[in-house]
Amino acid sequence: MKDVLAWIDGAREKSVEELKEWVRIPAISSDARHKADLEKNADWLIAKLKTLGADRVEKWPTIGHPAVFASYMHQPGKPTLLVYGHHDVQPVEPLAEWKSPPFEPDIREGRMWGRGVVDDKGQVHIHVKAIESFIKTVGKLPINLKLIVEGEEEIGSANLDTLMREHAKDLEADYVCVSDTAMFGRGIPSLCVGLRGLVYLEVHVDGPHQDLHSGSFGGGVLNPINALAKMIAKLHDDDGRVTVPGFYDQVLPLTPTERKEMADLPFDEKGWLAQTGCPALAGEKGWATLERIWARPTLDCNGISGGHEGEGSKTIIPARAMAKISCRLVPNQSSHDIQEKVGAYLKQIAPPGVRVRIVPLHGGEPYLAPTDHPVFEVAKRAFSKAFGQPTIFMREGGSIPFVRTIADRTGKPCLLMGFGQPDENAHAPNEWLDLENYHLGIKSAAYLYDELSRM
Ligand code: BES
Ligand code: MN
Ligand code: MN
Repeated sequence: MKDVLAWIDGAREKSVEELKEWVRIPAISSDARHKADLEKNADWLIAKLKTLGADRVEKWPTIGHPAVFASYMHQPGKPTLLVYGHHDVQPVEPLAEWKSPPFEPDIREGRMWGRGVVDDKGQVHIHVKAIESFIKTVGKLPINLKLIVEGEEEIGSANLDTLMREHAKDLEADYVCVSDTAMFGRGIPSLCVGLRGLVYLEVHVDGPHQDLHSGSFGGGVLNPINALAKMIAKLHDDDGRVTVPGFYDQVLPLTPTERKEMADLPFDEKGWLAQTGCPALAGEKGWATLERIWARPTLDCNGISGGHEGEGSKTIIPARAMAKISCRLVPNQSSHDIQEKVGAYLKQIAPPGVRVRIVPLHGGEPYLAPTDHPVFEVAKRAFSKAFGQPTIFMREGGSIPFVRTIADRTGKPCLLMGFGQPDENAHAPNEWLDLENYHLGIKSAAYLYDELSRM
């Protein structure tokens, strides 16, 4: 490992420059205008991997954006690790709030600033560099390794199921490692052992066949925006609980031990709140903040539209209104079940004067890691060696659809070894990557490969 670690140190500046190159490609998966950029983005990674002695480097097309696959199967008898990440990024609006342009990566305060620097290009690049550190010193990896980097994570991984069915054999491995989460806090190596799932839908409320004069018609027919607002308000009770019938039926209760472990984490609740800019905490009554964001399901309105949104006033009864609604799910809820329940309830509480249509968008299942499996101790050891600190277990409130899919399909344990920071501005203006963490991340990945070679 001495040579490997020395190589990582020596390559520090070059690695950062290389990552900047990749970040410059605006691979926004939700925006059809960037379709060619996702191809370019995948090609960039392919070209890089082709210089690193892989036995296979392939672009896997989908009806949406392509994934990249590579494999290093040079160690017969040794375990195989499947590493996952995504190369697509989130949109950048509001552009005016960025201190430097999102696709012109800038280095300030020991950080790289730009869209995708930490979610998830930087975290994929960490593994690329760890692979390179072995290839350039020892000549080959100490284990067998496969890499899958998808291009549609930020839009719900809709074509991942098909891809994984087509390539079931290619993706076989003993362990899975996901490089797409954040650490609990600065300098605290953290293995994420739980993710929430997601369901996303639109509710369309239709009234008159076109906008009406609110003087001539107001008071005579129902206003779709008024109706939708009332429906949304009915989705929570005064204790912050979701009122959809059966919503909590499959929720796995937290054990007293799990609650204690969460309560014992050094969580700075005041600092966390300050980071949001909100005047107070809120949420389901009876649960601590970490419990609410990691282990309790939620329902949120993400967007709402309808009627006159332009300048000044306009007196109308709008023809329609629409809301985008998502739920974060916890074990053992299922996205299909919750989507049905939320859709049915919205239809049930719709007042008679409007028509309601539900348009499902996407879903993903929650994950809970089998932490009694010995590989978690091995991963902890690797992570701690790089950071010089004990590794903790945590959960995340976010979702990565791939994780449950691969876990269910293969039955193999999934390590979520992430190198983000809690205040990294993922999905927001001024996303940044802590460069020291990135550097230690490369070492963590290298230590992980090394530790796994003795399993
Ligand atoms: N990297 C995140 C997942 C994540 C979120 C990890 C928060 C750690 C903390 C991932 O790219 C993401 O944003 N996922 C989406 C999934 C959705 C579009 C299906 C999410 O959670 O909203
Ligand atoms: Mn991500
Ligand atoms: Mn993301």
